[in-house]
Amino acid sequence: MIDAKRPIGVMDSGIGGLTVVRELQRILPGEDIIYFGDSANCPYGNKSSDRIFELSCNMLRFLGENGAKCTAIACNTISTMVERLRPCFDYKIIGIVECAADYVVREGLDKVGLIATEFTVASGNYDALIHKGNPDCRVVGKGSPLLAALVDRGDFNRHDINLEITTQVDNILAREKVENLILGCTHYPIVEENFRECYPGMKLINPALEQANAVQRFLAEENALNPQAKGTFTICTSGDPQVYVNVGKRLGLFEASELKVVHI
Ligand code: DGL
Repeated sequence: MIDAKRPIGVMDSGIGGLTVVRELQRILPGEDIIYFGDSANCPYGNKSSDRIFELSCNMLRFLGENGAKCTAIACNTISTMVERLRPCFDYKIIGIVECAADYVVREGLDKVGLIATEFTVASGNYDALIHKGNPDCRVVGKGSPLLAALVDRGDFNRHDINLEITTQVDNILAREKVENLILGCTHYPIVEENFRECYPGMKLINPALEQANAVQRFLAEENALNPQAKGTFTICTSGDPQVYVNVGKRLGLFEASELKVVHI
């Protein structure tokens, strides 16, 4: 039996996973959350899979040792290797790509755009999971080598961000006139308004909502929802904690109860 009082773990290569924390705090305000953002090693999207695996194991081990009752891998890049990670840990791990792919299948979309890190797009994991549920859905992906790192910097330079968005999304639109676009990197919903500014008619799919719902379903099934009214929020990062405070404010998160610099 899982102790309901234990925290939910959330991890990402950097600040991106705060978009998942936003949805968790909205639907599960009583849960304690422990977050790990590996900003010292961000971006992950340009690294080898063995290096990403090694860094991800360090975060999962840290969160497990700190009592996580489950961990949401709020990073698409890491989630593409969730099947390789799961057997290494004895607690529940919820990947974000599976949750987003389930949404696309459930909505019955016949085509969808995907902007993500180069690693995520090259892995083909989105295509494979969507095609498992709907073999006829056309998935048109384009990797961005820059956007996650631009966002993780935390200065939100409008010109640089919009230029990178339009470069990659125009490439998708040149191949297929998609009306739905998966923001396949957790950093991207932080700059959702830049996407809206560049593509006002596009329906943006934010996988964070789906992942928060999956966490809620798992905890409800296990009878492990925390009954307290308001949970704590602990942020651990290998990078600059001030960026987390700033982005947390931008996203309207509960203020962090604790902010720690941790090198794992
Ligand atoms: N936020 C991560 C994702 O969802 C990756 C960003 C990166 O580290 O490259 O893919």
